[in-house]
Amino acid sequence: MERRWSLQQLRLFEAVARLGSYTRAAEEQHLSQPAVHIQVKRLETAIGQPLIQAVGRKLLLTRAGDAVHAAAVDVINRLAGLAEALHEIDARVAGPLKVAAVTSAQVFLPQLLGRFVRTYPDVQPQLTVTNRERVIQRLLANDDDFVVMGQVPTPSDLTVIPFMDNRLVAVAAASHPLARHKRIRLERFAAERHLAREPGSGTRTAAEKLFATHGLTVQPYMTLGSNEAIKQAVVAGLGVSVLSQGSLELELATQRLAMLDVQGFPLHRTWNAVHLGGKRLGLTAQTFLDFLTAEGARAPT
Ligand code: PGA
Repeated sequence: MERRWSLQQLRLFEAVARLGSYTRAAEEQHLSQPAVHIQVKRLETAIGQPLIQAVGRKLLLTRAGDAVHAAAVDVINRLAGLAEALHEIDARVAGPLKVAAVTSAQVFLPQLLGRFVRTYPDVQPQLTVTNRERVIQRLLANDDDFVVMGQVPTPSDLTVIPFMDNRLVAVAAASHPLARHKRIRLERFAAERHLAREPGSGTRTAAEKLFATHGLTVQPYMTLGSNEAIKQAVVAGLGVSVLSQGSLELELATQRLAMLDVQGFPLHRTWNAVHLGGKRLGLTAQTFLDFLTAEGARAPT
């Protein structure tokens, strides 16, 4: 039996199914609502079965609708992959570059991205900086070319490429009494008032692990959701903290913060590019990753 349907009809049907609304699909696809409706009706006619049922105010897919939706998603993804492959055949570093990063990476990643784009001006970067939980969600949903994080989630089938050192250091206000001490014992540091990042933060987890290996548990005096907020609170004398050295340049240079000489610090960690195992990066993403690795090798340790 010959069935005639168009790619456009599949695209529109997929949008309606995903968004659960003709109106929202029309908005997304920059068409009018009746135009979307007509195309979906034509698809149903061509297939010879209803694909969508209105139940109350909800749009639900019929069984045929589910099958067509799965096929539509496949086709659309294959075509997106084809567009990328054609870009590569064109052998140009250009087009979209999607990267997500944990908040601590916001200090260096935009700078590196800026330099990369100056070399490859036809690249269209999209950088998402968000908390670790969202970055892991994006990683598992394959939303980006790769993500940048310190602590890598386990266990998972992931490809992890370390590209730069990430030193975590113990810090206090420059006027803090410990700032003048040498070889401070970890127990002594643990007994201070600690300002911690939110639970689940890679920085916080790494510090907790160090304390735990020495049989210590630190109850945060205060929990703050960003490195910036912690730095301000440390400068204000509210407590001590553990932060990525890369995020402290300004405060150390202006001597508002001091790095403490605490046993076990600095903690040597790495910044990693991470993507799902088995995924092959496109030319643009691979070139950016090579650039990050080269820059990482040059960065002072
Ligand atoms: P964070 O991440 O910004 O969540 O602390 C740093 C890391 O992943 O090590």
